[in-house]
Amino acid sequence: MAEVKASLICGVVVAFLSSAVLAVVEDLDDTFKQARLDDVWLVDFYAPWCGYCKKLEPIWQDVGAELKSSGSPVRVGKMDATAYSGIASEFGVRGYPTIKLLKGDLAYNYKGPRTKDDIIEFANRVAGPAVRALPSKQMFEHMMKRHDVLFVYVGGESPLKEKYIDVASELIVYTYFFSASEDVLPETVTLPELPSVVVFKDGAYFTYDEYEDGTLSSWVNKERFQGYLEIDGFTLYELGETGSVWIKLTLIQRVAKEYREHFNRDFQFGHMDGNDYINSLIMGEVTVPSVIILNTSNEQYFLPSEPTETMEQLVQFINSVLNGSSQWREIEGAQQYLIHFNEKISVEA
Ligand SMILES: *[C@@H]1O[C@H](CO)[C@@H](O)[C@H](O)[C@H]1NC(C)=O
Ligand SMILES: *[C@@H]1O[C@H](CO)[C@@H](O)[C@H](O)[C@H]1NC(C)=O
Repeated sequence: MAEVKASLICGVVVAFLSSAVLAVVEDLDDTFKQARLDDVWLVDFYAPWCGYCKKLEPIWQDVGAELKSSGSPVRVGKMDATAYSGIASEFGVRGYPTIKLLKGDLAYNYKGPRTKDDIIEFANRVAGPAVRALPSKQMFEHMMKRHDVLFVYVGGESPLKEKYIDVASELIVYTYFFSASEDVLPETVTLPELPSVVVFKDGAYFTYDEYEDGTLSSWVNKERFQGYLEIDGFTLYELGETGSVWIKLTLIQRVAKEYREHFNRDFQFGHMDGNDYINSLIMGEVTVPSVIILNTSNEQYFLPSEPTETMEQLVQFINSVLNGSSQWREIEGAQQYLIHFNEKISVEA
């Protein structure tokens, strides 16, 4: 009798454990293709042999547990992409692990750092509405404090709003999008016309002008960074995706700010701590502080041939890169850069 009891308890415990594990991170198979349409899913496509996937595994369990306990509607799963390679390739999986959020017909790639907090922030942002309403002044101020770069659509229904929603549905992988009525904005903000799309950043605000700024999506892509950035390997990678040229140096915040109108279209300004990363990139030796301009689209870089100690000298150097009179060099460490990048952020199989 005692034996029966013991095995009963055992059975109950096992059943409880396995259902708890299933509920937190679900193991997906080929039925997933149909099943996914009813819910929002966060999926880790992994390969059993891949080391980075094994590293992600405990983090993934934590992500599943936290999303569940916070009451999030996002379901968390993982799929062995080697066993279900047909589905994996339909989802565009080319490396391991690949993290995607699937929402209706849409699939969003996660490319940020693989930490629990970053992944959860991404899931909550992308799973929610593409455009979030800011109904009050308090809410607006709260969001201003939380976000370094804040995109807001101001006005009622309009073709511009439809465009804004389209752009938001695509670019929500990078940033939040809000909408508000004019009376929610601080009194100091005066918009030339309504409706408008405005970005608040660097202690100022800038309005999208469809005649000057090109498409709304290219404008958002350019404006989603602060004017002056602390740059690391990951930001560099993100900037590369926007195809913009960026510049690394010390003490050039003033140029970034005062010459915004001239250079904002082509340059991202920022600085990097130390020279290790940049030296490994160009396989050379720059001293600190130095000025360098990298073209992330074609892996060329520029070093000034004259001193760049004053604003004028710096502006002249940037202009000479723009007008093609500065000598470019090939980033010989491009390979190194990729290795570095792979170690830190992602692996392509
Ligand atoms: C950066 O690279 C792109 C792509 O090759 C090129 O079109 C652009 O002119 C380059 N920019 C500069 C400043 O060299
Ligand atoms: C390019 O710009 C530099 C710096 O402003 C200037 O000195 C140079 O004359 C310009 N070259 C051409 C070909 O426009």
